[in-house]
Amino acid sequence: MTWEGQRADWAHEVETPAFVLDTRAVDRALDAYERVRCDMGARVLYALKPLVHLDALARMRARLDGFAASSLNEARVAREVLGTAGGKTLSITTPCYRPQEMERLAELCDHVVLNSVGQYVRFATGLRDRGVSVGLRLNPGLPLVSDMRYDPCRPGSKLGVVLTEVGAAHERGDLDGLEGLHFHTSSDGLTYDGLLATVRSVRGGLDGLLRSGTVRWVNLGGGYHLPTDENRAALYDAVVVLRERYGAEVYLEPGAALVREAGYLVASVVDMFTSGGEMVAVLDTTVNHAPEVFEYQYRPDVLGHDSDHGHAVTMAGATCLSGDLFGEYRFAAPPAIGDCIVFPQMGAYTLAKAHWFNGVALPNLYTIGEDGRPRLRRRHTYEDYRARLDLKDYPNDADG
Ligand SMILES: Cc1ncc(COP(=O)(O)O)c(C=O)c1O
Repeated sequence: MTWEGQRADWAHEVETPAFVLDTRAVDRALDAYERVRCDMGARVLYALKPLVHLDALARMRARLDGFAASSLNEARVAREVLGTAGGKTLSITTPCYRPQEMERLAELCDHVVLNSVGQYVRFATGLRDRGVSVGLRLNPGLPLVSDMRYDPCRPGSKLGVVLTEVGAAHERGDLDGLEGLHFHTSSDGLTYDGLLATVRSVRGGLDGLLRSGTVRWVNLGGGYHLPTDENRAALYDAVVVLRERYGAEVYLEPGAALVREAGYLVASVVDMFTSGGEMVAVLDTTVNHAPEVFEYQYRPDVLGHDSDHGHAVTMAGATCLSGDLFGEYRFAAPPAIGDCIVFPQMGAYTLAKAHWFNGVALPNLYTIGEDGRPRLRRRHTYEDYRARLDLKDYPNDADG
């Protein structure tokens, strides 16, 4: 894909490095899920993990059925944003439920999805007694992700219970009071064919449990791109069969699809030179502001790049790590020191994973609203760095 025609005419207005959230893109993603909620009767939760950003969460609270958390801290944020008014659902799943946190989780969450039969036996009764609807995470055993590091269905997976074990535990009476089933097995799926295949596999393995009348809801997780006219038939079939055949409420908990397009990482070129004949541009951002660039070794898009352009430039990050590189890009003219470089589609799993390696500050946060202009939301300063290092009681003489 070329981003040649795409512009970010607001880029020169931000102080770099910057993470810019365009709320108009969040609204467009919410429109796509509005149709899923209306036409299919699915309930949609936003999974906070790719981006915890108040300006996104506030819009989602109004237009979705709730939030999905992956830790006590995420659950606390989600509850603060949702408030305590009824009608919205806060769900959590994690492999790490700590006994000392269960009471607080029970206060905060409507659904708690336990990750193993042992956890169910230890925690389900206490949660139910506090009014929580308790679910179990399944490992449907149908791999959809080629990179094993991200595959919840990998052999020996720590995420969820394999279907045969669920069936056996149900027969033993270990799952009494189970109200929900949950699975999340995809990552970046463009079509929902894998989801439909997974639903079929779960129905095949757990038809008896699903028919037993105790299961009130099934949560199909996230891991897919936005529903579109082209891909929605499989999603529709997956949702409707569970609703109509088993009378289950169906939940989706997308994360990245709701925020990916809304996020931009904006940097300035701080140095340009040739190294071994290659042009290098040093930026004031780093792959540590988008750690999956390094983890996956993928090359994010840059506005203005086109593979047919004549000037190849390696975009390098600000840190001492020699592999702190975004990749090679081609431009019509080589960038100059001071130019803005804009990485689009950076809303998911960037800021949420970003860190302060080398003391390079996290990006400043800007939000674009209806008027199309960026508004500063938060500047990341030396004081934030000091607080992180617990230097707050140390005399700060250096700043005079
Ligand atoms: C349990 C669960 N639900 C939802 C999601 C959201 O997935 P995505 O951001 O790919 O839509 C994840 C991502 O890891 C997850 O682990």
